[in-house]
Amino acid sequence: MITVVGSINMDLVVSVDRAPNRGETLIGKTFHTNPGGKGANQAVSAARLDHLTNMVGHVGTDAFGTSLLNNLKEQNIRTNYVKRKEGPSGIANITVAGGDNSIIVVPGANFSWEAKEWEQYDDLITKSDVLVLQLEIPLEVVEAFAEMANKRGTTVILNPAPAHSLPASLIRNVDYITPNETECMEIFSMNAEEAVSHFPNKLIVTEGEKGAVYYDGSSLVRIPGFPVKAVDTTGAGDTFNGALATAIAEGQDLKKAVSFANAAASLSVQHYGAQNGMPEREAVLARLGEMN
Ligand code: RIB
Repeated sequence: MITVVGSINMDLVVSVDRAPNRGETLIGKTFHTNPGGKGANQAVSAARLDHLTNMVGHVGTDAFGTSLLNNLKEQNIRTNYVKRKEGPSGIANITVAGGDNSIIVVPGANFSWEAKEWEQYDDLITKSDVLVLQLEIPLEVVEAFAEMANKRGTTVILNPAPAHSLPASLIRNVDYITPNETECMEIFSMNAEEAVSHFPNKLIVTEGEKGAVYYDGSSLVRIPGFPVKAVDTTGAGDTFNGALATAIAEGQDLKKAVSFANAAASLSVQHYGAQNGMPEREAVLARLGEMN
């Protein structure tokens, strides 16, 4: 069983030929509202691969909150632990220009945690095989869940996005840390190859279509990606993390788990929207088969 603790956002997505310059107004091409949030996306990724998945997080009392909650239910995610907090839901303002995206998140209900509120989830975390965390909820909440999971022997994956410096105790309490190259540089002030050597079998740096890299204690392990024509990379990292959690919860070794996650991420970027293109298991296995 996987439990994801994290953000649930409504993504307000504008597509445009190019990003605007400072002070400039452009006419965009399309506008969509899509369910998103790194936490919710990672839960959808795992659930779509048929793994029993719980979501712990908060939505607001606005109309977005209702639709975000309904979406999680439709995705077969257990929502008993999603609470509604007075006020607006989290949103992400996303501009997609030429296949790349830029995002501003306004956390809303995602940041509405009371002191010690996490203690009521002790039993759930104890029963979970894997806990997945990101950094779109308050850092002290992330730290508290990581500590709880570590005490209970639950495997923890921390996707440190958006990038933020990581306290040493948090790094100790998690089993895997999964930044992309940019986040790796921001957090550790080192490039991927150098950074992974400091955290054997723990730090896995994703490198887009090039794949991912980690250090196994004696040498660098490069797991190749699956080059594809990307139409929207939003949520690719989330697909990777949900699939990685699935593979690890099912007992795959790290090398196979990263390869499974790479294959899932490569499929997700071929569709618009963070959750839209997240693949089912058969598609991931077929893509892995193409490699052999
Ligand atoms: O990782 C993509 C996600 O980041 C989007 O869905 C958006 O909500 C932001 O949180």
